[in-house]
Amino acid sequence: MKGIVLAGGSGTRLFPLTISVSKQLLPVYDKPMIFYPISVLMLAGIKEILIITTPHDKALFEKLLGDGSYLGCSFEYAVQEAPNGLAEAFIIGADFIGHDKVALVLGDNIFYGNGLSKMLQSNNDVVGGAIFAYPVRDPERFGVVAFDKNHKALSIEEKPKHPKSNYAVPGLYFYDNRVVEIARSVQASERGEKEITAVNKAYLDLGELQVGVMSRGMSWFDTGTVDSLDDATEFIRVIQHNQSMMIGCLEEIAYRMDWISYDDLKTSASRYGKGAYAAYINSL
Ligand code: TTP
Repeated sequence: MKGIVLAGGSGTRLFPLTISVSKQLLPVYDKPMIFYPISVLMLAGIKEILIITTPHDKALFEKLLGDGSYLGCSFEYAVQEAPNGLAEAFIIGADFIGHDKVALVLGDNIFYGNGLSKMLQSNNDVVGGAIFAYPVRDPERFGVVAFDKNHKALSIEEKPKHPKSNYAVPGLYFYDNRVVEIARSVQASERGEKEITAVNKAYLDLGELQVGVMSRGMSWFDTGTVDSLDDATEFIRVIQHNQSMMIGCLEEIAYRMDWISYDDLKTSASRYGKGAYAAYINSL
C-alpha cells in the first residue's frame, strides 16, 4: 500500500500565521505539524509516501523531510497548483499509486490513542474503501456519516447544515486502486472542489465502504483553526510530559518497525543538533 499526505491548501483560517508559510510546517508543540500525519502512515506500515504541497512550499518540505531514506522510507513530492479539493490527491498521485492500494491522510490531522497502530494496520489490504467516524460537538464543519441501528453506514454528507448524526469523518482514508478512477469521475462541488465525500459516497453506493467508529480511547485533532492548533499543541505537550514518550517521532517509529538499524538511529539523531528531539532519539 502507498501513502499520500495532502499538505497543500490555503490555510486561510490561520491567517496571518499562514500567509507566508504552509500550515503543515507550523509547530505542534515540538515538531512540525506534518510529522504527525507522516507518523500515522508509517504506523500503518507504509514506507512509500507522496507529499503533496502548494507550488511555493514544496522546497521547504523537501528541506525538512528529504528522500526519507534515513527512515527506511521513500518520500516523493508533488504539487497541487490550487486547492481544488481533497479528491484531487488521487489524480495528482495516479502515477505514484500505480496498481497499488493507497491511504490518504490530511496534513493537518493528528491521531493518537490506544490501539492506533493495530487499527491502521488492519486496513492495509482494504477491499473498497475504509474510513472512520469520530463523535464531535460541531459536525457541520466536517463530512458527516449517519448509521442505522445495526451500525451500518447509511449516508455521508459534506458539511451539512442539519447533520444527521454527530459523527465526523476524520482526514484518514484507505482505498483500493479503483479510487483513482472514482476521483477522476467526481465533479467539482458548488464550492468548486473535488470532494472526498463524493469518493466515499461512490464506495457507499457500491456497498463497499467500511466505516470504523473510533472509540473514546482515540484522540483526533484537525488543527485548521487557531484554537484547535493550540489544543493539539497542549495535548501533545501534556501527554509527552507525563509519559516521557514522544508522539510522532519518525525515527523512533522507523526503528521500532525494524526499518532502520540501531546505528542508523544514532546517525539520524545527528540531523537534529542539540535539541530535545535529538536527545530523545539518543535516549531510545
Ligand atoms: P482545509 O483545512 O479544509 O483547508 P485549508 O488548509 O485550505 O484551510 P482554510 O480552510 O483555513 O483555508 O484542508 C484540510 C487539509 O487538506 C489541509 O491539510 C490542507 C489540505 N488541502 C489540500 O492540500 N488541498 C486542497 O485542495 C484542500 C481543500 C485541502
